[in-house]
Amino acid sequence: MDTKRPYNFYAGPAILPLEVLKKAQTELLNFSGTGISVMETSHRSKPFDAVITGAEKKIRQIMNIPDNYEVLFLQGGASLQFAMIPLNFLKKKKADYVHTGSWAKLAIKEAKLLGEVHIAGTSEDINFSALPKDLNFSDDAEYVHITSNETINGTQWHDFPDTGKVPLIADMSSDIMSRKIDINKFSLIYAGAQKNIGTSGVTLVIIRKDLIEKGDPNIPTMLKYSTHAEKKSLHNTPSVMGIYITDLVMDWVLKQGGLDAIEKTNDEKAKILYDHIDSTDFYQGLVEKEDRSSMNVVFRIKNNDLEPAFIEQAKEKGFIGLKGHRSLGGLRASIYNAFPVQGVKDLVKFMKDFEKNNS
Ligand SMILES: Cc1ncc(COP(=O)(O)O)c(C=O)c1O
Repeated sequence: MDTKRPYNFYAGPAILPLEVLKKAQTELLNFSGTGISVMETSHRSKPFDAVITGAEKKIRQIMNIPDNYEVLFLQGGASLQFAMIPLNFLKKKKADYVHTGSWAKLAIKEAKLLGEVHIAGTSEDINFSALPKDLNFSDDAEYVHITSNETINGTQWHDFPDTGKVPLIADMSSDIMSRKIDINKFSLIYAGAQKNIGTSGVTLVIIRKDLIEKGDPNIPTMLKYSTHAEKKSLHNTPSVMGIYITDLVMDWVLKQGGLDAIEKTNDEKAKILYDHIDSTDFYQGLVEKEDRSSMNVVFRIKNNDLEPAFIEQAKEKGFIGLKGHRSLGGLRASIYNAFPVQGVKDLVKFMKDFEKNNS
């Protein structure tokens, strides 16, 4: 990593691989020999077609996505998916939601506007410091919705629930492509790209074709999955720059050795950081060990009053984005795919020094 660049712990938009940024920089004025930038290129041109089809092909390869799924590049963020999912599939009936924290709550809020929501499990009583263990799914739900990684609360599903015949839908915004998963368990996966797979402006949707067919036909055209599937994500002007960056990130993922290698590195980084937090009383993890996220490590200093100084001094040393989400406070280190192992080791060294100077 370029030593002049800070270590970026922002939760999203988040760190991108440096080589992706450099490649984008070299092509900024002259993309694919066109003499113009990708931002100035028609989304129906041949050079852009190579980008969008290439990105899809690589995503299919990396995640091992079978042919009975569509891979879509949408807009509106994961937040629009909170509404699009119930609009298409709830149809004034019932869906099960597992309430694991801030993002699940927003998904539930949208679904409640459009039908009945059954909370199949919640850990609200323990401040979302673990995943709910008692899950109570309805037989007649249209789908089950989970948040695979709660970016703010720092929990992550390590084993996904078996929902039988009921389609499982997951918001994977903050851990997509951080590990290997079995796509066949899911009917729909969605993720804002701005953490692990690109930049804001692109929302990746991986959806099983039979679910698309169940979508309500009487909703606006732009909000139907069928529209975007039929038009191969080109119903309207997509985020050309965003899809281009995702394509470059996919090249980087493949170069790392795919999800086997990425998962191994992510586990290593998380272990270094959690091991240190666990080794001292000065710092405190906020999440039960078995449900901790390998992407967003939330923690506090036991003496909360020291946290502003920690954030300030960390910033001076080149560690940015360590402030916890405004709704939770405390500290959070987001260590997405592109975050280097060395950065975590250096953060731990800083944490040790800070502890020594403040004990
Ligand atoms: C798990 C999760 N879901 C949804 C969102 C909302 O995404 P967007 O801002 O792309 O709408 C975020 C954003 O951080 C998130 O972390």
